[in-house]
Amino acid sequence: MKIRLSKTAKSTTIISFLFEESKNLPQDFKASSGEITVRYEADITNIYCGLGKEEEVSERTLKTAAAKGIQKTSELKKERVSIILPEIKRLDNEKLLSCLKGALLGKYKFTKYKSEKPVSIETIDIVSSRPITAAEISRAEIIADSVNYARGLVNENAHKMTPAQLAKEALAISKSGSMKLTVLDEHDISKQQLNLIKAVGDGSPFPPRLIILEYNGSSKSKERQMIVGKGITFDSGGLNLKPTGSMETMRSDMSGAAAVLGVMRCIGALKPKINVCGVVPAAQNALGPKAYFPGDVYRSYEGLTVEICSTDAEGRLILADAISYCRKKVKPTSIVDLATLTGAIAISLGDTAAGLYSNNDELAQKLFEAGERSGDRLWRMPLFQEYSDSIKSDIADLRNLSKFKKGHAGSNTAAAFIKEFCGMIPWAHIDIAGVSWNDGPPKGETAQFATGYGVQLIIDYLLKNSV
Ligand code: BES
Ligand code: ZN
Ligand code: ZN
Repeated sequence: MKIRLSKTAKSTTIISFLFEESKNLPQDFKASSGEITVRYEADITNIYCGLGKEEEVSERTLKTAAAKGIQKTSELKKERVSIILPEIKRLDNEKLLSCLKGALLGKYKFTKYKSEKPVSIETIDIVSSRPITAAEISRAEIIADSVNYARGLVNENAHKMTPAQLAKEALAISKSGSMKLTVLDEHDISKQQLNLIKAVGDGSPFPPRLIILEYNGSSKSKERQMIVGKGITFDSGGLNLKPTGSMETMRSDMSGAAAVLGVMRCIGALKPKINVCGVVPAAQNALGPKAYFPGDVYRSYEGLTVEICSTDAEGRLILADAISYCRKKVKPTSIVDLATLTGAIAISLGDTAAGLYSNNDELAQKLFEAGERSGDRLWRMPLFQEYSDSIKSDIADLRNLSKFKKGHAGSNTAAAFIKEFCGMIPWAHIDIAGVSWNDGPPKGETAQFATGYGVQLIIDYLLKNSV
C-alpha cells in the first residue's frame, strides 16, 4: 500500500468531501453525513462523500465518510485513488487525517480464506491545500494499520491463533518496538500459582500463556500504565458448554488481547515518551479430560479462593490472576482492562458503545473523552456495593457468577469480580463483548467480523494524557 502526498489529484478516481452548505452540490445530492454518490466527468470518476453541516463534523464523521468513499472505490475495482482532504479550519492536521484513517480502516477486508481475492487499492494520493508532513501521514497510517493488525488476529482461525501464537505476536512486537517481553508458559503458570489461569487453560491441548510487554519511553515519568486484554483464543464455555448459535464467533474472545497487542505495536512504532505495560493472559476455554469442574474451588494468585459456578465465566478468572501477578511484578500506577466479558453488555448498549467500569472518576472521564474523540465509544456503568455482595460465596471467598437471578446485571457483577483484584489502584474495565464483532456488512469504518475496537481508544487515551 502506497500513500503519497500531493498538491493536485493525480488519479482519475477522486474522493472528495462536501458539506450540506457547499455551493454547487451535484444534482440530487444533499451531502448529508454518510451520503455518497458517484459522478462521471470526462475521464474522471468523482466519488462525493457527504459530511453534513461543517460545524458538526467530527473525526468520526470524517472516518465514516472516507471509509464509504474507499469502499465505493473498491466496488468500482479501481487500484488508485486521490483523496482530497476537506478544509475545516477548526480541525488540526491530525484530526483532518481521520480521512486517511477512515480510508485505511474502510479498505480492510478479511479475505485470507477466499480463493478469489478482490481487486485491491494499491495507491492512495492525499491531496491537501494546507501543508501536511510525511510524519503526520505516517502517524495516521500506523494507527490505522494497528487496528487492522488487531482485526487480523481476531479473524484468524482459533486453531492458529492459540495462546502460543499470541506470544509469538508479542515477540515480534517487542523486537520491532524495543520492549521487554516476559512470557510465562504453562509450567511457569503452574509454578507461580496462577491457578485460575491454569484452571481455565487445563482443558485444552493448546496450553495457556501469560504475556507481559513493557515499553519504557520515559525515565522521568513515574507513571506506568498497564493495559490488560482478555485472551481466550476460543471460548467453548468449557463443561458448561455453550449452545449452538452462541459458540460460532467465540474465536473473537481474544479481542481484548488483540487490542492490547495492536496498541503495543502502535506504541512501539510511534515511540511516545510514556511508560506502558501490555498484558495478555491467554488460554483456550475447551473441553478435555483435564478441564476444570463446575463447583470446584480454586485459590487465585491473590490468595482469594473462588468457587467456579460456571466454567463459561472464565474471562474474569484469567483477568484476576493476570492483574494480581502484574500488580506485584510491574507495579503499575493505573490499570485498564479490555475484555469480551459478558453477553449482557450487548443487551445494555448494543454495538453502539462498550461498557466502562471504574473505581476512579478521573480515569473514567479521560477514557470517556478518548472514546468520544476516537469513535470507540464508551458508556459508564455502575459498581454498586450490591454487585460486590452478590459474588460472595458460601464455600469460598468469591463465586464467579452472582447470586442474582440468572442474567440479572451480568456485566456489572462480572466487573465487581475483577474489582476485587485491583486493590486501591485506579482501574477501569471495558466490556467489549458487544462491540468487538460485527456480524453484518461493514458499517463505514467498522469492518465485517472483527472490528478492532479499543486500539484507537487506548492509543488516544495514552497519547492525549501523556505529560
Ligand atoms: N466470552 C463470553 C462473553 C461473550 C458473549 C462475548 C457474547 C462475546 C459475545 C464470556 O466468557 C461468557 O461466556 N460470559 C457468560 C457469563 C455467564 C456465564 C455469567 C455470558 O455472557 O453468558
Ligand atoms: Zn465464557
Ligand atoms: Zn469468554
